[in-house]
Amino acid sequence: MKTLLTGGAGYIGSHTAVAMLDAGHEVAVVDNYVNSSAEAIARVEKITGKKVALYEADVADKPRMMEILKAEMPDCIIHFAGLKAVGESVAMPVEYYRNNIDTTLTLLECMRELGLTNIVFSSSATVYGEDNVPPFTEDAPKGMCTNPYGWTKWMQEQMLTDAAKASAAECEKLKAAGKTAGKDEWKSPLSVVLLRYFNPVGAHESGLIGEDPQGIPNNLMPFISQVAVGRRDHLTVFGDDYDTPDGTCRRDYIHVMDLAEGHVKAAEYILGKRSEAEEESGKPLGGTEVFNLGTGSPYSVLEMVAAFGRACGHAVAYEVGARRAGDVQDSWADAEKARAVLGWQASRGIDEICRDAWNWQSHNPHGYKE
Ligand code: NAD
Ligand code: UD1
Repeated sequence: MKTLLTGGAGYIGSHTAVAMLDAGHEVAVVDNYVNSSAEAIARVEKITGKKVALYEADVADKPRMMEILKAEMPDCIIHFAGLKAVGESVAMPVEYYRNNIDTTLTLLECMRELGLTNIVFSSSATVYGEDNVPPFTEDAPKGMCTNPYGWTKWMQEQMLTDAAKASAAECEKLKAAGKTAGKDEWKSPLSVVLLRYFNPVGAHESGLIGEDPQGIPNNLMPFISQVAVGRRDHLTVFGDDYDTPDGTCRRDYIHVMDLAEGHVKAAEYILGKRSEAEEESGKPLGGTEVFNLGTGSPYSVLEMVAAFGRACGHAVAYEVGARRAGDVQDSWADAEKARAVLGWQASRGIDEICRDAWNWQSHNPHGYKE
């Protein structure tokens, strides 16, 4: 299979590139390096011993994307490109809506013109409404988001779902009328897989690629890693007065290589590969399917701090501070659908997560910059 990864030089994209190449698929990457560098792809090539077709481009630049997609004609696009910092999205909503929405619309227009029909999208557990009780199943109601970043995910899910529905209706109509599709019409029904990630953490086992946040990390694991390596003094635990066993929030931390392997399964599924339990073998998806990518097991902030201490061989300094606005107490996945339909489940636990995060951080204390 030929895949094209938008935002493929980023954290999750680079790990997915490794998993795709390891599974024997071809990989092209489009990235404008707004939050990454080409060095990540050089390292993907080093890990796998395989070549990646690398394009520096803005996914919202339609003429350029038409050129790239025409040259590649991928069987499946995996759309990672996007801005993802929650706090920054509150301060810069216009930039977040422009970039995240525009990249998806541009891709859809290009795909329709070129007759490309398969797309996997990076969504987030953040779309689940706050009133849901974990574990979240895919049919749990979507809710109000607390920030523009979350809304962009919510809206992109809706845009892709609507486009898939309309494309199927259009194809039916054209077929009934005995007509062939024009430039602005779908040649086949669009197939969309929405992957709702829980908390991606850790790094490739080699220590060559990993998460490289710019500035002060917003998320727990990169912050813990930077304290452990001596770049920061201590972690602030955002509240220990929640209604949980140790008072801190619980999340579903998933190893980024498990997540990456979930993308391989999703792309194979979209092209018609089915687990043995399913009947329609070989039939492309045509429509939209949603899958949670999580482990199904929650861990608290303090459990993660303790696990990291075991991995790096010394205690990670922390202080307890105030709750963070917008945090939910508990979030974890019901991961059964991905297991049953994609034949995928996470196999790495928190000790492997912390071992691999520490391996990456201790060998690359300043990320890709050295
Ligand atoms: P990342 O910032 O490391 O990767 C995103 C990549 O997209 C970067 O390489 C960036 O340079 C690129 N990019 C952004 N806008 C672009 C544009 N207009 N044109 C071309 N390239 C562009 O982030 P990540 O953690 O790898 O996340 C990947 C995707 O998964 C994002 O869409 C993110 O919102 C989503 N997601 C991430 C998490 C998480 O915790 N990391 C959780 C849920 C969903
Ligand atoms: C956050 C975002 C969410 C986004 C996700 C992945 C918020 C409110 N939510 O989710 O929209 O989809 O990242 O990018 O920003 N913690 C600390 N100290 C820290 C950092 C985090 O105690 O310095 C705690 C948090 O309170 C939380 C847990 O660690 O309980 C995990 O935090 P984080 O890694 O930011 O992920 P989420 O809160 O799940």
